[in-house]
Amino acid sequence: MKREIKTTSDGSKTLYINDLDECYHSHHGALQEAEHVFIKNGLNLVNKNEINILELGFGTGLNVLVTINEYLKTNKNHVINYFSLEKYPINESEVADLDYASLFCEQNLTLIGEKIHRIEWEKLGEIIQGFNLKKIQCDFYDLKSLTLPPIDLVYYDCFGARVQPDLWEKPLFEMVYHKMNTNALLTTYSSKGSVRRILMELGMKVEKRPGPPGKREMLIAWKREKNIE
Ligand SMILES: C[S@@+](CC[C@H](N)C(=O)[O-])C[C@H]1O[C@@H](n2cnc3c(N)ncnc32)[C@H](O)[C@@H]1O
Repeated sequence: MKREIKTTSDGSKTLYINDLDECYHSHHGALQEAEHVFIKNGLNLVNKNEINILELGFGTGLNVLVTINEYLKTNKNHVINYFSLEKYPINESEVADLDYASLFCEQNLTLIGEKIHRIEWEKLGEIIQGFNLKKIQCDFYDLKSLTLPPIDLVYYDCFGARVQPDLWEKPLFEMVYHKMNTNALLTTYSSKGSVRRILMELGMKVEKRPGPPGKREMLIAWKREKNIE
């Protein structure tokens, strides 16, 4: 499918798929959305020495970059293992045109940005000390057969339900749920009532939070202790 680069309202770029009329990020600001949904309402709410993150899907790699950027602000005495699923990897010229490294003050982000795309698929590799990435090229529905450590944080970042409605229905959420650790957190830009109900049916504690620019609300959900599931 043909993709083109678009600039969003905060100046950061995204990819747009003409045939689906769908962007990889919010046109109100790709960077702001990633930081709000996945860092402020995700990573920053998880307090563990070793955090296993599962992302659906890798896309442009922007969520990996904002996560590393946040990790670099800490005293780095914890470890992050980041597992990212993607069926349709983007190409080198798209990576270059997105120019995400220029969004961050941290100078190392240029080299880090190159490394996250260059690193071999299907292998857990060190991006910087304490931050490991495994990109897995697969369909989201292959999740069931993947061997992953118990996941502490899920970045649920599929295309919208308008274009991929099945990715917002119970079977995929159930697969993700079974990969999650007790007390793990799932965060998504979606605020759909049907998604909220599915997460509640799975026994999760769901919270509505203010959304990123251009969106009133978003959802986060905690996996509870076994005896109250
Ligand atoms: C909203 S974009 C993800 C944006 C990404 N997190 C980022 O930081 O750029 C959704 C991604 O899901 C991928 N995708 C769509 N259907 C998929 C499927 N069935 N299995 C795996 N990946 C899929 C798309 O190729 C796209 O990269």
